[in-house]
Amino acid sequence: MTEGTSVHTQAADEVPADSLIPTLPGTDYTDPGTFRLEQEHIFEAQWFCAVRSSDLDKPGAFRTVQIGRESVIVTRARDGKPRAFLNVCRHRGARLCTEESGAVKRSFQCPYHAWTYGLDGKLIAAPNLTSMPDIDRTAYGLQPLNLTEWLGYVWVCLADTPPSFEETVVADVVARLGSTEAIDNYGVDGLTVGKRITYDVKANWKLIIENFMECYHCATIHPELTEVLPEFADGYAAQFYVGHGAAFGEDVEGFTVDGSEGFGRIDGVSEEQDRSYYAITVRPQVFVNLVPDHVIFHRMYPVAVDRTIVECDWLYTQEVVDSGKDLSRSVEIFHRVNQQDFDACERCQPAMSSRQYARGGVLVPSEHHIGEFHTWVEAAIAPGRT
Ligand code: FES
Ligand code: FE
Repeated sequence: MTEGTSVHTQAADEVPADSLIPTLPGTDYTDPGTFRLEQEHIFEAQWFCAVRSSDLDKPGAFRTVQIGRESVIVTRARDGKPRAFLNVCRHRGARLCTEESGAVKRSFQCPYHAWTYGLDGKLIAAPNLTSMPDIDRTAYGLQPLNLTEWLGYVWVCLADTPPSFEETVVADVVARLGSTEAIDNYGVDGLTVGKRITYDVKANWKLIIENFMECYHCATIHPELTEVLPEFADGYAAQFYVGHGAAFGEDVEGFTVDGSEGFGRIDGVSEEQDRSYYAITVRPQVFVNLVPDHVIFHRMYPVAVDRTIVECDWLYTQEVVDSGKDLSRSVEIFHRVNQQDFDACERCQPAMSSRQYARGGVLVPSEHHIGEFHTWVEAAIAPGRT
């Protein structure tokens, strides 16, 4: 590693509290080769939060999502369980589904030569296949992928031997909140999508994570959020609120765009969690915000080195959604935060290729914990660098 082509990152606890530490170099946000390594060694190697389970509301309902370099179909089989497959026909490789979502009755049929697959992925029919009675239909089924469900989402892993979900995804949450009980209290899996907004962000996925991990920018770009959470006006990092959250302002009634009343506290949310806001990053591509009456759940789909699709769900109790009450003030606060954050990321992306940023920038003390994220990314892709 030669000076000028890369930088060493340091864990936050290794540097003096008053120093500046380097970021990653600009090329890590613009180089397709680096992005390819991240696709291979992060998104295709780890558990990836793919779809909300309730989107698969009946057998045959499906969504297609990009995970790393692969298009993946997530569907619900006739046994009621979710299944995930590579979106590639086993005959000559046509993309099976081109729609982002939809529903089939009982099978997926390839539009090219009409090979047909059951909801369990098994090859069930193909023109003239009867003339080949010995063909092993399981061997030519769709390629199944490992999956699990947690917090009401289907998490998929493309690795042949997935890492332990408990020791990676769940441990990440425990490291930030202190326990799973802190998130279990919100009953996230039983909540209902009250609103979903998809953002097409012209920025590298790491800029979005870094932004989410710090609140140094809150005083500058989030006027509505700092009204509701006055502590953030001082530029503290949301992630510092491990276990105790950021308190609502005294005259704030609810987590809404104008601080007006929200909805009733979710059953299970503790006294300590009431009137508090928590922000959690779950690597590699999920952000969760917890407030007493709803949960805001972001999933990133990095699709290019300079482009990331972010799907954001606002989750409420079924009772709130069924009541027909106006959700707009409740949704609007974080929709504005999202727009403000993504605008900031898009402002940074073009400058990542500037000669001035070739060696990167710096992290101020309240951002030092981002250095640990950089170390994590570098370690994950290191095997591909050699
Ligand atoms: Fe799908 Fe031929 S490529 S049936
Ligand atoms: Fe922000």
